[in-house]
Amino acid sequence: MKLLYWAVLAVAPCLVQSSAVGYSTTTPSTVTNSSFSFGSHYAVLNLDLISGLVGTINTTSQGQAFIKNTAKWINAVHKQSPPPISIFSRLYFSTSLLPEISPDAPFMTDVASVGNLTESDPKSQLYPAFKPLPDYDLVLQKTRYFAGADNTLVQILQSQKIDTVILNLEQSGLRTSGVILATAQRLFDLDFNVYVIANNTLETGSDATKINDAILQGILPKLPANVITIEQAIDALSRSGASYY
Ligand SMILES: *[C@@H]1O[C@H](CO)[C@@H](O)[C@H](O)[C@H]1NC(C)=O
Ligand SMILES: *[C@@H]1O[C@H](CO)[C@@H](O)[C@H](O)[C@H]1NC(C)=O
Ligand SMILES: *[C@@H]1O[C@H](CO)[C@@H](O)[C@H](O)[C@H]1NC(C)=O
Ligand SMILES: *[C@@H]1O[C@H](CO)[C@@H](O)[C@H](O)[C@H]1NC(C)=O
Repeated sequence: MKLLYWAVLAVAPCLVQSSAVGYSTTTPSTVTNSSFSFGSHYAVLNLDLISGLVGTINTTSQGQAFIKNTAKWINAVHKQSPPPISIFSRLYFSTSLLPEISPDAPFMTDVASVGNLTESDPKSQLYPAFKPLPDYDLVLQKTRYFAGADNTLVQILQSQKIDTVILNLEQSGLRTSGVILATAQRLFDLDFNVYVIANNTLETGSDATKINDAILQGILPKLPANVITIEQAIDALSRSGASYY
């Protein structure tokens, strides 16, 4: 799996082209049990939903469907009582010189194409359609593909005895599939049950559709991570207990 991960990271960086969006509404679910639940120790991870990335796809119909479905899911999670733990990641760096990344690292090419992402930069703020719930949700900085690199993500999940994570993510402008593969694989390797909501996953760049399908229908199910629809996810919420604190 590690080999595969690096092989995927080695492909040419994608340019942000709003015309090349990979987004599927025909992904088959890997979960056939109609009464499955996320259990009672689950967390929701909303990764890289920042204006600098979401703003590049919000004029496409696929981008708008992605935004609508992702916001619908986030709002449904917030309506749970008590709400389960939701963690948002924001990509930004200490200064506009991006000292956390080596100038010759492949990741630098991607980040540089988004711009000088600092904490106060409008591009690093959460896209306005996605709003953390005050006093419950956390927003963590990240500086790598893996959502838990250089922050307290894994510490929080372990401290809260989380065993299941549900991912929503935006990877337009980032290296093809970098975030989804890096994050799903690392969390899987740390023994979390990983769910990915297909309707809340979007890919850009060359071959975006082919790659999006390959990830959701080929690689993730093989891991195995569960690939589900937003309808299944919202349905499962009502059968899941939330244990936070
Ligand atoms: C979500 O995706 C599934 C299949 O992957 C599709 O049947 C469903 O219509 C999509 N839902 C929305 C709200 O786009
Ligand atoms: C389906 O999921 C429910 C809830 O997790 C579980 O109790 C049941 O045993 C599962 N059924 C099958 C056939 O795996
Ligand atoms: C797309 O997102 C950008 C950045 O947040 C924003 O300035 C722009 O108004 C948005 N466009 C649409 C059509 O929502
Ligand atoms: C980022 O900032 C540096 C100087 O701090 C500047 O040279 C460069 O043009 C900026 N890049 C972008 C994309 O704004």
